Amino acid sequence: MEFKKQLEQYRTMTEQALAEHFPKETLPYDKLVRSMEYSLMAGGKRLRPALVLEFCRVCGGDIQTALPVACGVEMLHTYSLIHDDLPAMDNDELRRGKPTNHVVFGEFTATLAGDALQAEAFASVLSAPLPPERLVKCARILANVAGYDGICGGQQLDMEGEEKPLTEADLMEIHARKTAALIRGACLMGVACAGGTAEQEAAAVDYAEALGLAFQIRDDMLDVLSTAEELGKPIGSDAQEGKTTFMSLYGAEECEKRILALTEQAKQAARRFDDSEFLTALADSMAVRRS
Ligand code: IPE
Ligand code: IPE
Ligand code: MG
Ligand code: MG
Ligand code: MG
Repeated sequence: MEFKKQLEQYRTMTEQALAEHFPKETLPYDKLVRSMEYSLMAGGKRLRPALVLEFCRVCGGDIQTALPVACGVEMLHTYSLIHDDLPAMDNDELRRGKPTNHVVFGEFTATLAGDALQAEAFASVLSAPLPPERLVKCARILANVAGYDGICGGQQLDMEGEEKPLTEADLMEIHARKTAALIRGACLMGVACAGGTAEQEAAAVDYAEALGLAFQIRDDMLDVLSTAEELGKPIGSDAQEGKTTFMSLYGAEECEKRILALTEQAKQAARRFDDSEFLTALADSMAVRRS
């Protein structure tokens, strides 16, 4: 199948499954449920679920069995975005083209929506119709990605780094946890869903590390060079919060060069799989993304 069609199919599958996760009836804590649904269903590229599904497929697994895992990964990602936007963190008011969760629902509901989405992420992963040892592997990967040595540790360093001159090594350390960990985890969970081999895991890690770094470099560039309309989130947020970014450290030209080299690296790793067309096209499309 052509890359764009396949990506669209992954997106549709994920969004349909995510929509089914929420109760339709009005519950006493309805506002909390609606705020979770608001951010989760607001769009987004759905990159991480696509990685779960495609790595499952290239390792010979059934993507339907990986769908709850893909949804769990997107729930965890969405929680991290809701908290990232809070006034105590990046203090942003636009996300996925809509007002941020705390702007619409208030700070305490947004905080709880993030908390609950993190728990629902594990519930979704563990509901996948997979053998218990594969489920345990996926849940363990997700826990490592989410915890102190993953997203939370990365976000802690990112916040502590505000208004400080960070080195390239500092930035790499932040990035490895803040963004790369979940992208790497998504690829590895896809392999785990299919019961993949150690060689497949190693290739997935190499792909994810190159793609993840290119992804954050582009994110930092877009924060300077894009528009809020195109990006669906505010421009200039990093400078406003006094963050050192790949853009402030390298400048646009060097960022472009690095993205190009990392994309080639990701494509080489993808070619270690028999059917690498989607993964190579995905790396190319992420390298030139505008949102
Ligand atoms: C934004 O992630 C946060 C980063 C890790 C840079 P995405 O750019 O994947 O956001 P959505 O999911 O498309 O909204
Ligand atoms: C956020 O990085 C990464 C996580 C949410 C874990 P950024 O703060 O750069 O993400 P954006 O630019 O707000 O999407
Ligand atoms: Mg941030
Ligand atoms: Mg942010
Ligand atoms: Mg950013």
